Amino acid sequence: MKALVYHGPRQVNVEEVPDPRIERPTDVLVKVTSTNICGSDLHMYEGRTDVERGKVLGHENLGEVVEVGAAVDRVKVGDRVCLPFNIGCGFCKNCERGFTGFCLSMNPGFAGAAYGYASMGPYNGGQAEYLRVPYGDFNCLRLPPDVAEKENDYVMLSDIWPTGYHATVLADVQPGESVVVYGAGPVGLMAAYSATLRGASKVILVDRRPDRLALGEKIGAIPIDDSQGSAVEQVLDLTGGEGADKGCECVGWQAHDPTGDEHPNMTMNDLVKAVRATGAIGVVGVFVPQDPGGPDTMAQQGRVAFDLGAFFQKGLRMGSGQANVKAYNRQLRDLIAAGRATPSFLVSHELPLTDAPQAYAHFDARDDGWTKVVLKP
Ligand SMILES: NC(=O)c1ccc[n+]([C@@H]2O[C@H](COP(=O)([O-])OP(=O)(O)OC[C@H]3O[C@@H](n4cnc5c(N)ncnc54)[C@H](O)[C@@H]3O)[C@@H](O)[C@H]2O)c1
Ligand SMILES: [Zn+2]
Ligand SMILES: [Zn+2]
Repeated sequence: MKALVYHGPRQVNVEEVPDPRIERPTDVLVKVTSTNICGSDLHMYEGRTDVERGKVLGHENLGEVVEVGAAVDRVKVGDRVCLPFNIGCGFCKNCERGFTGFCLSMNPGFAGAAYGYASMGPYNGGQAEYLRVPYGDFNCLRLPPDVAEKENDYVMLSDIWPTGYHATVLADVQPGESVVVYGAGPVGLMAAYSATLRGASKVILVDRRPDRLALGEKIGAIPIDDSQGSAVEQVLDLTGGEGADKGCECVGWQAHDPTGDEHPNMTMNDLVKAVRATGAIGVVGVFVPQDPGGPDTMAQQGRVAFDLGAFFQKGLRMGSGQANVKAYNRQLRDLIAAGRATPSFLVSHELPLTDAPQAYAHFDARDDGWTKVVLKP
């Protein structure tokens, strides 16, 4: 089959690789029909992770079941399914409690497994024609017939919508509250969208990419361009000097200033300033325990100079980590089915798999108008 293979920093190729096959009776084989490029793929693309060369990338996958193992009961050939980016077993201590992003079985010695991702186990990704799904009955989310028209909505259930939603859950967003979201990439846009769905009265979105801020404005967020002045001061102005009730971090450790210089602590310390005393912060932007390519020794050791004193003084709370996609994907699917949500609003490009290398280059450069790429293998 054809697949997108990682060969080194900014080197990805579409090439022939062996077809995946059913390896265990609990596996399901999916013919991929939509697979997104994610901001998380860019950390690998830029050579900022230890992902192995030869890996097939792609963790935001949707497709049609073409084969099921002998022990698969629920999922049938022909079902249209969306796959959470995390691979869970369903029976470990964490999966049982809903923390499928931290499965203890699928990647022994590490809490969490995913398709096509650094440190997340030996699983190939779905930027390919076919994908092997372990524990298919547990991991496949079945989709209703309107997937025929809403495929670009449903594919957002694989990662970024549940991830944006997770940020609002970690921040405990309540109806009527004000929320500030750092980062207007796909994840930040989905966090802003989710905050609105959860009843926030005011959603403030911080970035410096005009195209992304404009999309945020379309869904009702107040855009703040931090290249035009301090974002913190503007958030304080918009919230009567108090700060937003809740904050979401949707950038991660590669946060940079508008000139492009990286400061891994930038968004976290801004959030401590921009969220009111006793508020809460949900962190879904990725932070890593080591980064040999980081800007200084601390960053290289995965450390961040965090304003813990101010955080403590304000009585702030914080939650962080990979999104447990399965905790939300069913309910969010039903919002799409009911016509109450259309997360596909952020899709800017639908391209064949063969165009993936160019799409990576454009998305990595955050070129104007490249908000979200859906590949159609
Ligand atoms: N926790 C999870 O489960 C999970 C899942 C998916 C993605 N992620 C992570 O979420 C983060 C965002 O993903 P994405 O797909 O939206 O990526 P992206 O890179 O497309 O978007 C990041 C955005 O942040 C902006 N930005 C950079 N520095 C900033 C700063 N200091 N202040 C404000 N904005 C700033 C950029 O301009 C960009 O628009 C990444 O770290 C990604 O790895 C986490
Ligand atoms: Zn992703
Ligand atoms: Zn598990």
